[in-house]
Amino acid sequence: EWTMSNVIDEQVELIRNQIGEDGTAICALSGGVDSAVAAALVQRAIGDRLTCVYVNHGLMRLRESEEIERAFSGSTGGAKLVVVDAEERFLTALAGVTDPEQKRKIIGREFIRVFEQAQEDILREQGVVDGGEARRKAFLVQGTLYPDVVESGGGDGTSNIKSHHNVGGLPDDLTFELVEPLRQLFKDEVRAVGSQLGLPDEIVWRQPFPGPGLGIRIIGEVTKDRLDTLRAADAIAREELTLAGLDRDIWQCPVVLLADVRSVGVQGDHRTYGHPIVLRPVTSDDAMTADWAKVPYDVLSKISTRITNEVDDINRVTLDVTSKPPGTIEWE
Ligand code: XMP
Repeated sequence: EWTMSNVIDEQVELIRNQIGEDGTAICALSGGVDSAVAAALVQRAIGDRLTCVYVNHGLMRLRESEEIERAFSGSTGGAKLVVVDAEERFLTALAGVTDPEQKRKIIGREFIRVFEQAQEDILREQGVVDGGEARRKAFLVQGTLYPDVVESGGGDGTSNIKSHHNVGGLPDDLTFELVEPLRQLFKDEVRAVGSQLGLPDEIVWRQPFPGPGLGIRIIGEVTKDRLDTLRAADAIAREELTLAGLDRDIWQCPVVLLADVRSVGVQGDHRTYGHPIVLRPVTSDDAMTADWAKVPYDVLSKISTRITNEVDDINRVTLDVTSKPPGTIEWE
């Protein structure tokens, strides 16, 4: 019989078998429900031989990293957490890059390099000197879901829509063995497993946010200034959607900065020549298909007024009214 308890028992057993009696693992924690549930399952299976690693790649939303650290402490049954600040590393690697797939591959590769470094640091702390040998036995836990696998082409190179940072975006010379207990599940099932495992609602019902973060929501080159602009606009959109009580009705609402587009505007009696922002609110069950969300006009109006008033350089707010297919949820 297929119940959430059975899924949990079965996965815990599989994880135990894969990692073995004395293996250690690190879990790539993103703050979202997928990696939190994956971490909680592995924690059940191997206890404190798991260390969670949260990488701040500088592509997170406003105040998000602090919120994640806070939420984590109460959520995964006391697992260890290491926070790595890698903003400079990611922004340097992304400098000058505009192609969406190239951005995804760079971010996926840099994630792995940071995890390798974290793993070596952890081993050194535990007194294991030969980092190279030990690393070969290291396991990396990821919250990869079934749709991530399908849309990244299932690893066999067919039908690649996007290289998800944790599937098609992985480097070829990966030294970790992957542990992916959610690989056969859809998001709603992961949420059910998370609830069953006792994770707080704050995590279980968190809206999806892509691993590559705002890096794939800036159309054009990713720079610190553009990230700050996008963070400000995104924070306003999220705040107003939350105030309107729409968080559970919509799947997520990417806010996209068209950094290479400019249009003429007027504020007071000044001419402006700024960038447009795109709001992309969607409804969905599993992100494989989606519809654009019919957010009430007064909410859209409030978001538009606030963004153009409060965010420098943004003089136009547009609404994406495309379903998936033909559009994808993220713009890159
Ligand atoms: P798309 O844009 O493919 O997005 O329609 C489907 C869902 O997946 C999220 N997404 C990602 N999540 N790593 C992730 O963890 C990724 O590389 C990635 N790309 C897209 C997206 O936010 C949406 O919920």
